[in-house]
Amino acid sequence: MSLSQTLAPAHILAIAPYQPGKPISELAREFGLDPTVIIKLASNENPLGCSGRVREALSEAAALMQGRYPDPNGFDLKSVLAERYDVPMSWLTLGNGSNDLLELASLAFLDEGTSAVYAQHAFMVYRLATQARGARHIMVAARDYGHDLDAMFEAIAEDTRLVFIANPNNPTGTFLPAGEVEHFLTRVEDRYGDRVAVLLDEAYNEFLDPAERFDSARWVHRFSNLIVTRTFSKAYGLAGLRVGYALAQERLTDLLNRVRQPFNVNALAQAAARVALADEDFVQQTYEMNRVGRIQLSDGFRAAGLDFVPSHTNFVLVRVGDAARVNQGLLRQGVIVRPVAGDGLPEHLRVTVGLPEENRRFLSTLVDVLAAP
Ligand SMILES: Cc1ncc(COP(=O)(O)O)c(C=O)c1O
Repeated sequence: MSLSQTLAPAHILAIAPYQPGKPISELAREFGLDPTVIIKLASNENPLGCSGRVREALSEAAALMQGRYPDPNGFDLKSVLAERYDVPMSWLTLGNGSNDLLELASLAFLDEGTSAVYAQHAFMVYRLATQARGARHIMVAARDYGHDLDAMFEAIAEDTRLVFIANPNNPTGTFLPAGEVEHFLTRVEDRYGDRVAVLLDEAYNEFLDPAERFDSARWVHRFSNLIVTRTFSKAYGLAGLRVGYALAQERLTDLLNRVRQPFNVNALAQAAARVALADEDFVQQTYEMNRVGRIQLSDGFRAAGLDFVPSHTNFVLVRVGDAARVNQGLLRQGVIVRPVAGDGLPEHLRVTVGLPEENRRFLSTLVDVLAAP
């Protein structure tokens, strides 16, 4: 028996670690490529970077850093979030990215005697966070690559404490309209009251078309078992700073904060997020660039005769056949996208919408790789 087998419990040994998008520097080293010619469309990052106002705020905040810990309660950032969503500050939790909030929810509600429900092909971290707690998984088969909320409702068991819903979903890009989510929340509350928490993960909310958007934050007033999470990593371009937030009534927020590290969000991230929220022009510019880029990718896939899942996010899931081979071909040409075999999709690749030139280069490289013997 190896050291790790004697140290870690079986549910930890069973974890297959998260496979992040390959960093540019790593690909450059592996293939001896010039890093400046590599394009990365693998982590759903913002190709515009972040707003100029954020960059200025970061320089100022960096100059003021004086060896102090960050504000453990994130007062300034929570103040602007509370105003924006019209909730008390006691309904907000900040996270080291919204990934942190998914972990906090699993820490607060799950243990070995409980289960979590989530959808097949949903964000991988739901599985990892459930597994890390030793809780039981109830993975519900996807419908048309998306969540089947009726089946998820039926799958809730006596020991279920947490249901994860990604809307829109990663890696498939599917979207559940307001009415379906509201119906699900109502049914869960009617049948289970406060015994089952629902975490509605809206990491890609800002990429929805205006007609699709709905005010899920208002539902937090109605549903005492609901947690809504959002992030600054995607539309706001702060992926490297790691900051996200959760909205939930005070009782749930209190539970999340019991398991939170006191200083989980660093000072620069707090300062940047506050300024990022105020720069609506940047978010609009991001939305527009993404809308156009998503059409560019979708048209390119259609022209190449490839099936893809219509996307409501800043990435598109495309079926390429032998995805491992195609991925290697793309990597050799300096194009990083995301294989999703670990999500149960061995024939697909997930491609983040990039700048128009990056999308063009990706599409032409893809066509070349697919044509190669
Ligand atoms: C659905 C979903 N939720 C949450 C996250 C976590 O992002 P972050 O921790 O950067 O906020 C991601 C990141 O890819 C995601 O796709």
